[in-house]
Amino acid sequence: MLKTTVMRTDTPEETKAAVKAAAILIRQGEVVGIPTETVYGLGANALSPEAVAKIFVAKGRPQNNPLIVHVADLSMLDGLILLEDDLRKRLAEAFWPGPLTIIFPKGKKIPACVTAGLDTVAIRMPSHPVARAIIRETGLPVAAPSANLSGKPSTTTADHVRKDLDGKISLIVDGGSCEVGLESTVVTVKGDTVTVLRPGCITVEMIRLALPEAIVEVAEETLRPLKEGEQAPSPGMMYKHYSPEARVLLCEGTPEQTVAFANTYVDKNAVFIGDVKVCDKVRIDTMPYDGSRDEARLIFDDLRLADEKGYEYVIVGQSTNDGIGLAINNRLLRAAGFEVIHL
Ligand code: TXA
Ligand code: MG
Repeated sequence: MLKTTVMRTDTPEETKAAVKAAAILIRQGEVVGIPTETVYGLGANALSPEAVAKIFVAKGRPQNNPLIVHVADLSMLDGLILLEDDLRKRLAEAFWPGPLTIIFPKGKKIPACVTAGLDTVAIRMPSHPVARAIIRETGLPVAAPSANLSGKPSTTTADHVRKDLDGKISLIVDGGSCEVGLESTVVTVKGDTVTVLRPGCITVEMIRLALPEAIVEVAEETLRPLKEGEQAPSPGMMYKHYSPEARVLLCEGTPEQTVAFANTYVDKNAVFIGDVKVCDKVRIDTMPYDGSRDEARLIFDDLRLADEKGYEYVIVGQSTNDGIGLAINNRLLRAAGFEVIHL
Protein backbone atom coordinates (compact mmCIF):
# COMPACT_ATOMS: atom_id res chain seq x y z
CA MET A 1 0.00 0.00 0.00
CA LEU A 2 1.32 3.45 -0.90
CA LYS A 3 0.27 6.62 0.85
CA THR A 4 -1.60 8.67 -1.76
CA THR A 5 -1.06 12.44 -1.54
CA VAL A 6 -3.25 14.93 -3.41
CA MET A 7 -1.54 18.22 -4.35
CA ARG A 8 -3.69 21.16 -5.41
CA THR A 9 -2.97 23.75 -8.12
CA ASP A 10 -5.08 26.70 -6.99
CA THR A 11 -2.20 29.18 -6.72
CA PRO A 12 0.99 29.59 -8.80
CA GLU A 13 3.03 28.43 -5.77
CA GLU A 14 0.93 25.28 -5.30
CA THR A 15 1.11 24.55 -9.03
CA LYS A 16 4.89 24.90 -9.05
CA ALA A 17 5.27 22.54 -6.08
CA ALA A 18 2.85 19.97 -7.55
CA VAL A 19 4.49 20.03 -10.99
CA LYS A 20 7.92 19.59 -9.42
CA ALA A 21 6.81 16.71 -7.19
CA ALA A 22 5.11 14.96 -10.12
CA ALA A 23 8.15 15.34 -12.36
CA ILE A 24 10.51 13.98 -9.69
CA LEU A 25 8.31 10.91 -9.15
CA ILE A 26 7.90 10.24 -12.89
CA ARG A 27 11.67 10.53 -13.40
CA GLN A 28 12.12 8.05 -10.52
CA GLY A 29 9.92 5.56 -12.37
CA GLU A 30 6.73 6.10 -10.37
CA VAL A 31 3.15 6.57 -11.55
CA VAL A 32 1.30 9.87 -10.96
CA GLY A 33 -2.33 10.93 -11.45
CA ILE A 34 -2.33 14.03 -13.66
CA PRO A 35 -5.09 16.34 -14.93
CA THR A 36 -5.61 16.79 -18.67
CA GLU A 37 -8.28 18.70 -20.59
CA THR A 38 -10.08 15.41 -21.44
CA VAL A 39 -9.93 13.11 -18.39
CA TYR A 40 -7.34 12.45 -15.67
CA GLY A 41 -4.34 10.39 -16.78
CA LEU A 42 -2.12 7.89 -14.99
CA GLY A 43 1.31 9.06 -16.11
CA ALA A 44 4.70 7.34 -16.12
CA ASN A 45 7.99 7.55 -18.03
CA ALA A 46 7.10 6.20 -21.49
CA LEU A 47 10.71 5.18 -22.12
CA SER A 48 10.95 2.89 -19.08
CA PRO A 49 9.38 -0.60 -19.32
CA GLU A 50 9.50 -0.89 -15.48
CA ALA A 51 7.62 2.38 -14.99
CA VAL A 52 5.07 1.50 -17.68
CA ALA A 53 4.50 -1.91 -16.06
CA LYS A 54 3.37 -0.10 -12.89
CA ILE A 55 0.57 1.63 -14.86
CA PHE A 56 -0.86 -1.73 -15.94
CA VAL A 57 -0.68 -3.04 -12.35
CA ALA A 58 -2.30 0.06 -10.77
CA LYS A 59 -5.25 0.01 -13.22
CA GLY A 60 -5.57 -3.74 -13.59
CA ARG A 61 -5.30 -3.10 -17.33
CA PRO A 62 -4.97 -5.96 -19.84
CA GLN A 63 -1.35 -6.07 -21.13
CA ASN A 64 -2.45 -6.09 -24.76
CA ASN A 65 -4.22 -2.70 -24.59
CA PRO A 66 -1.62 -0.09 -25.66
CA LEU A 67 -1.08 3.32 -24.03
CA ILE A 68 -1.08 6.88 -25.38
CA VAL A 69 2.26 8.70 -25.18
CA HIS A 70 1.96 12.38 -24.21
CA VAL A 71 4.41 15.07 -25.29
CA ALA A 72 4.64 18.79 -24.53
CA ASP A 73 6.07 19.93 -27.87
CA LEU A 74 7.04 18.64 -31.30
CA SER A 75 10.76 18.39 -30.48
CA MET A 76 9.93 15.57 -28.04
CA LEU A 77 8.73 13.39 -30.93
CA ASP A 78 12.28 12.69 -32.06
CA GLY A 79 12.80 8.90 -32.02
CA LEU A 80 9.23 8.22 -30.82
CA ILE A 81 7.63 8.10 -34.27
CA LEU A 82 8.51 7.71 -37.91
CA LEU A 83 7.12 10.92 -39.37
CA GLU A 84 6.25 10.78 -43.02
CA ASP A 85 5.03 13.91 -44.69
CA ASP A 86 1.40 12.88 -44.67
CA LEU A 87 -1.98 13.85 -43.24
CA ARG A 88 -0.74 13.17 -39.70
CA LYS A 89 1.35 16.28 -39.88
CA ARG A 90 -1.67 18.32 -40.96
CA LEU A 91 -3.77 16.87 -38.16
CA ALA A 92 -1.10 17.76 -35.60
CA GLU A 93 -0.84 21.30 -36.99
CA ALA A 94 -4.60 21.73 -36.84
CA PHE A 95 -5.41 20.22 -33.45
CA TRP A 96 -2.31 20.13 -31.19
CA PRO A 97 -2.08 20.96 -28.41
CA GLY A 98 -5.55 19.52 -27.78
CA PRO A 99 -7.75 16.46 -27.38
CA LEU A 100 -6.66 14.54 -30.50
CA THR A 101 -4.58 11.34 -30.40
CA ILE A 102 -2.84 10.40 -33.65
CA ILE A 103 -1.59 6.88 -34.41
CA PHE A 104 1.92 6.97 -35.95
CA PRO A 105 4.36 4.33 -37.17
CA LYS A 106 6.44 3.60 -34.04
CA GLY A 107 9.98 4.89 -33.64
CA LYS A 108 12.88 3.00 -31.99
CA LYS A 109 12.72 4.67 -28.58
CA ILE A 110 9.27 3.37 -27.58
CA PRO A 111 9.38 0.12 -25.58
CA ALA A 112 7.12 -2.70 -26.84
CA CYS A 113 5.07 -2.75 -23.61
CA VAL A 114 3.74 0.77 -24.33
CA THR A 115 2.26 -0.29 -27.67
CA ALA A 116 1.39 -3.86 -26.67
CA GLY A 117 3.79 -5.05 -29.35
CA LEU A 118 2.12 -3.09 -32.19
CA ASP A 119 4.32 -1.33 -34.75
CA THR A 120 2.28 1.86 -34.26
CA VAL A 121 2.19 4.29 -31.34
CA ALA A 122 -0.58 6.63 -30.18
CA ILE A 123 0.63 10.20 -29.52
CA ARG A 124 -1.14 13.14 -27.95
CA MET A 125 -0.05 16.67 -27.07
CA PRO A 126 -2.45 17.79 -24.31
CA SER A 127 -3.47 21.43 -23.92
CA HIS A 128 -4.01 21.41 -20.14
CA PRO A 129 -1.41 23.80 -18.68
CA VAL A 130 -0.65 21.56 -15.69
CA ALA A 131 -0.23 18.46 -17.88
CA ARG A 132 2.07 20.41 -20.20
CA ALA A 133 4.10 21.77 -17.29
CA ILE A 134 4.53 18.29 -15.81
CA ILE A 135 5.69 16.79 -19.12
CA ARG A 136 8.05 19.71 -19.74
CA GLU A 137 9.50 19.60 -16.21
CA THR A 138 9.92 15.81 -16.46
CA GLY A 139 11.69 16.21 -19.81
CA LEU A 140 10.36 12.82 -20.92
CA PRO A 141 7.43 11.54 -22.97
CA VAL A 142 4.71 10.45 -20.54
CA ALA A 143 2.64 7.32 -21.15
CA ALA A 144 -0.81 7.81 -19.67
CA PRO A 145 -4.06 5.90 -19.91
CA SER A 146 -7.19 7.28 -18.28
CA ALA A 147 -6.74 7.21 -14.48
CA ASN A 148 -9.54 4.79 -13.60
CA LEU A 149 -9.63 1.13 -12.60
CA SER A 150 -9.84 -0.84 -15.84
CA GLY A 151 -13.47 -1.21 -17.00
CA LYS A 152 -14.79 1.66 -14.84
CA PRO A 153 -15.92 5.08 -16.09
CA SER A 154 -13.00 7.45 -16.71
CA THR A 155 -12.10 10.00 -14.05
CA THR A 156 -12.81 13.71 -14.51
CA THR A 157 -11.88 14.98 -11.02
CA ALA A 158 -8.99 14.29 -8.62
CA ASP A 159 -11.55 12.87 -6.22
CA HIS A 160 -12.62 10.24 -8.79
CA VAL A 161 -8.94 9.27 -9.18
CA ARG A 162 -8.50 8.98 -5.41
CA LYS A 163 -11.59 6.79 -5.11
CA ASP A 164 -10.26 4.35 -7.75
CA LEU A 165 -6.52 4.40 -7.02
CA ASP A 166 -6.01 5.32 -3.36
CA GLY A 167 -3.06 3.29 -2.01
CA LYS A 168 -1.96 2.31 -5.53
CA ILE A 169 -0.19 5.53 -6.57
CA SER A 170 1.74 7.99 -4.44
CA LEU A 171 0.62 11.31 -5.96
CA ILE A 172 -2.46 12.83 -7.60
CA VAL A 173 -2.15 16.37 -8.96
CA ASP A 174 -5.53 18.08 -8.62
CA GLY A 175 -6.15 20.34 -11.62
CA GLY A 176 -9.88 20.72 -11.02
CA SER A 177 -12.69 19.28 -13.15
CA CYS A 178 -11.69 18.28 -16.68
CA GLU A 179 -12.99 20.69 -19.28
CA VAL A 180 -13.96 18.10 -21.94
CA GLY A 181 -14.92 15.17 -19.70
CA LEU A 182 -14.51 12.55 -22.46
CA GLU A 183 -11.27 10.96 -23.63
CA SER A 184 -9.47 12.30 -26.70
CA THR A 185 -10.52 11.52 -30.26
CA VAL A 186 -8.22 8.76 -31.61
CA VAL A 187 -7.46 8.76 -35.34
CA THR A 188 -5.33 6.79 -37.72
CA VAL A 189 -4.27 7.67 -41.29
CA LYS A 190 -3.90 5.58 -44.43
CA GLY A 191 -3.19 7.41 -47.68
CA ASP A 192 -5.74 10.20 -47.97
CA THR A 193 -8.12 8.69 -45.42
CA VAL A 194 -8.40 9.66 -41.77
CA THR A 195 -10.25 7.04 -39.71
CA VAL A 196 -11.70 7.89 -36.31
CA LEU A 197 -11.11 4.90 -34.00
CA ARG A 198 -12.52 6.57 -30.89
CA PRO A 199 -14.81 9.61 -31.25
CA GLY A 200 -14.28 12.57 -28.93
CA CYS A 201 -14.75 16.32 -28.75
CA ILE A 202 -12.62 16.87 -31.87
CA THR A 203 -15.49 15.80 -34.09
CA VAL A 204 -15.59 14.29 -37.57
CA GLU A 205 -17.08 17.58 -38.77
CA MET A 206 -14.13 19.54 -37.31
CA ILE A 207 -11.57 17.23 -38.96
CA ARG A 208 -13.35 17.54 -42.33
CA LEU A 209 -13.31 21.31 -42.02
CA ALA A 210 -9.60 21.45 -41.12
CA LEU A 211 -8.50 18.92 -43.78
CA PRO A 212 -10.78 19.46 -46.79
CA GLU A 213 -8.51 17.33 -48.99
CA ALA A 214 -8.91 14.25 -46.76
CA ILE A 215 -11.56 11.54 -46.65
CA VAL A 216 -12.72 11.36 -43.04
CA GLU A 217 -14.52 8.23 -41.89
CA VAL A 218 -15.54 6.62 -38.61
CA ALA A 219 -14.60 3.01 -37.86
CA GLU A 220 -17.97 1.23 -37.71
CA GLU A 221 -16.80 -0.69 -34.64
CA THR A 222 -17.18 2.51 -32.59
CA LEU A 223 -20.94 1.93 -32.46
CA ARG A 224 -21.26 -1.87 -32.43
CA PRO A 225 -19.73 -4.76 -30.49
CA LEU A 226 -16.97 -6.79 -32.12
CA LYS A 227 -18.01 -10.12 -33.56
CA GLU A 228 -16.53 -13.35 -32.21
CA GLY A 229 -12.87 -13.57 -33.30
CA GLU A 230 -13.04 -10.25 -35.17
CA GLN A 231 -9.82 -8.22 -35.42
CA ALA A 232 -10.17 -4.81 -33.68
CA PRO A 233 -8.81 -1.72 -35.48
CA SER A 234 -7.97 -0.42 -31.99
CA PRO A 235 -7.32 -2.80 -29.07
CA GLY A 236 -9.43 -0.63 -26.74
CA MET A 237 -12.52 -1.80 -28.63
CA MET A 238 -12.09 -5.32 -27.25
CA TYR A 239 -12.73 -4.52 -23.63
CA LYS A 240 -15.65 -3.80 -21.36
CA HIS A 241 -15.56 -0.07 -20.71
CA TYR A 242 -17.04 2.75 -18.70
CA SER A 243 -19.26 0.37 -16.75
CA PRO A 244 -20.76 1.49 -13.47
CA GLU A 245 -22.14 -1.07 -11.00
CA ALA A 246 -25.63 0.17 -11.89
CA ARG A 247 -27.28 -1.21 -15.01
CA VAL A 248 -27.36 1.39 -17.77
CA LEU A 249 -30.69 1.40 -19.66
CA LEU A 250 -29.91 3.21 -22.89
CA CYS A 251 -33.05 4.35 -24.69
CA GLU A 252 -33.56 5.16 -28.34
CA GLY A 253 -36.58 7.36 -28.85
CA THR A 254 -37.84 10.92 -28.41
CA PRO A 255 -37.12 12.68 -25.10
CA GLU A 256 -40.83 12.28 -24.26
CA GLN A 257 -40.71 8.51 -24.93
CA THR A 258 -37.58 8.21 -22.79
CA VAL A 259 -39.25 10.13 -19.96
CA ALA A 260 -42.33 7.89 -20.24
CA PHE A 261 -40.05 4.82 -20.06
CA ALA A 262 -38.20 6.29 -17.05
CA ASN A 263 -41.54 6.81 -15.30
CA THR A 264 -42.20 3.06 -15.46
CA TYR A 265 -39.23 2.74 -13.04
CA VAL A 266 -40.89 4.89 -10.38
CA ASP A 267 -41.04 1.99 -7.89
CA LYS A 268 -37.47 0.91 -8.59
CA ASN A 269 -34.12 2.24 -7.39
CA ALA A 270 -33.48 4.18 -10.59
CA VAL A 271 -32.11 7.54 -11.74
CA PHE A 272 -32.67 9.42 -14.98
CA ILE A 273 -29.83 11.32 -16.66
CA GLY A 274 -31.42 13.79 -18.99
CA ASP A 275 -32.38 17.12 -20.36
CA VAL A 276 -33.52 19.72 -17.81
CA LYS A 277 -36.33 20.71 -20.16
CA VAL A 278 -38.05 17.33 -19.84
CA CYS A 279 -36.90 16.55 -16.30
CA ASP A 280 -39.94 18.01 -14.59
CA LYS A 281 -41.98 15.30 -16.27
CA VAL A 282 -39.77 12.53 -14.82
CA ARG A 283 -41.09 10.98 -11.62
CA ILE A 284 -37.85 9.19 -10.64
CA ASP A 285 -34.66 10.84 -9.33
CA THR A 286 -32.76 12.87 -11.93
CA MET A 287 -29.26 14.05 -12.72
CA PRO A 288 -30.14 16.80 -15.16
CA TYR A 289 -27.80 18.20 -17.77
CA ASP A 290 -28.11 21.34 -19.78
CA GLY A 291 -27.19 21.10 -23.45
CA SER A 292 -25.05 18.53 -25.27
CA ARG A 293 -21.63 19.89 -24.38
CA ASP A 294 -22.46 19.65 -20.70
CA GLU A 295 -23.75 16.14 -21.11
CA ALA A 296 -20.36 15.13 -22.49
CA ARG A 297 -18.60 16.84 -19.62
CA LEU A 298 -20.74 15.21 -16.97
CA ILE A 299 -21.47 11.73 -18.28
CA PHE A 300 -18.68 9.91 -16.42
CA ASP A 301 -19.30 12.00 -13.31
CA ASP A 302 -23.00 11.04 -13.41
CA LEU A 303 -22.28 7.33 -13.90
CA ARG A 304 -19.90 7.42 -10.92
CA LEU A 305 -22.38 9.40 -8.82
CA ALA A 306 -25.11 6.87 -9.60
CA ASP A 307 -22.92 4.15 -8.05
CA GLU A 308 -22.02 6.28 -5.06
CA LYS A 309 -25.70 6.83 -4.37
CA GLY A 310 -26.39 3.13 -4.78
CA TYR A 311 -28.80 3.30 -7.72
CA GLU A 312 -29.57 0.00 -9.40
CA TYR A 313 -30.57 1.47 -12.77
CA VAL A 314 -29.41 4.47 -14.77
CA ILE A 315 -31.86 5.51 -17.51
CA VAL A 316 -30.47 7.69 -20.27
CA GLY A 317 -31.45 8.58 -23.84
CA GLN A 318 -29.17 8.12 -26.86
CA SER A 319 -27.84 11.25 -28.56
CA THR A 320 -27.87 11.81 -32.29
CA ASN A 321 -24.64 10.66 -33.95
CA ASP A 322 -23.49 14.09 -35.09
CA GLY A 323 -20.97 16.39 -33.47
CA ILE A 324 -19.99 15.33 -29.98
CA GLY A 325 -23.14 13.13 -29.89
CA LEU A 326 -21.14 10.36 -31.61
CA ALA A 327 -18.66 10.32 -28.73
CA ILE A 328 -21.44 10.33 -26.12
CA ASN A 329 -23.19 7.42 -27.85
CA ASN A 330 -19.92 5.50 -28.16
CA ARG A 331 -19.36 5.75 -24.38
CA LEU A 332 -23.00 5.08 -23.44
CA LEU A 333 -23.25 2.06 -25.75
CA ARG A 334 -20.21 0.55 -24.07
CA ALA A 335 -21.51 1.43 -20.61
CA ALA A 336 -24.76 -0.37 -21.55
CA GLY A 337 -22.94 -3.39 -22.99
CA PHE A 338 -24.34 -2.38 -26.43
CA GLU A 339 -27.91 -3.11 -25.32
CA VAL A 340 -30.34 -0.48 -26.58
CA ILE A 341 -34.01 -0.20 -25.62
CA HIS A 342 -35.87 0.83 -28.77
CA LEU A 343 -38.92 2.88 -27.78
O1 TXA B 1 -7.92 11.72 -23.45
C1 TXA B 1 -7.21 10.71 -23.44
O2 TXA B 1 -6.87 10.14 -24.50
C2 TXA B 1 -6.77 10.17 -22.08
C3 TXA B 1 -5.85 11.19 -21.45
C4 TXA B 1 -5.23 10.72 -20.17
O3 TXA B 1 -4.87 11.60 -22.35
N1 TXA B 1 -6.13 8.89 -22.23
C5 TXA B 1 -6.81 7.77 -22.55
O4 TXA B 1 -6.05 6.62 -22.60
O5 TXA B 1 -8.00 7.74 -22.76
P1 TXA B 1 -6.66 5.15 -22.61
O6 TXA B 1 -5.49 4.26 -22.45
O7 TXA B 1 -7.74 5.04 -21.62
O8 TXA B 1 -7.20 4.97 -24.06
C6 TXA B 1 -6.30 4.85 -25.16
C7 TXA B 1 -7.00 4.24 -26.35
C8 TXA B 1 -7.31 2.78 -26.10
O9 TXA B 1 -8.59 2.50 -26.64
C9 TXA B 1 -6.22 2.08 -26.91
O10 TXA B 1 -6.60 0.79 -27.35
C10 TXA B 1 -5.99 3.04 -28.07
O11 TXA B 1 -6.13 4.32 -27.48
N2 TXA B 1 -4.65 2.91 -28.64
C11 TXA B 1 -3.46 3.14 -28.05
N3 TXA B 1 -2.43 2.87 -28.88
C12 TXA B 1 -2.98 2.45 -30.04
C13 TXA B 1 -2.45 2.03 -31.31
N4 TXA B 1 -1.15 1.97 -31.52
N5 TXA B 1 -3.34 1.68 -32.28
C14 TXA B 1 -4.68 1.73 -32.07
N6 TXA B 1 -5.24 2.13 -30.91
C15 TXA B 1 -4.41 2.48 -29.90
MG1 MG C 1 -9.44 4.41 -20.65
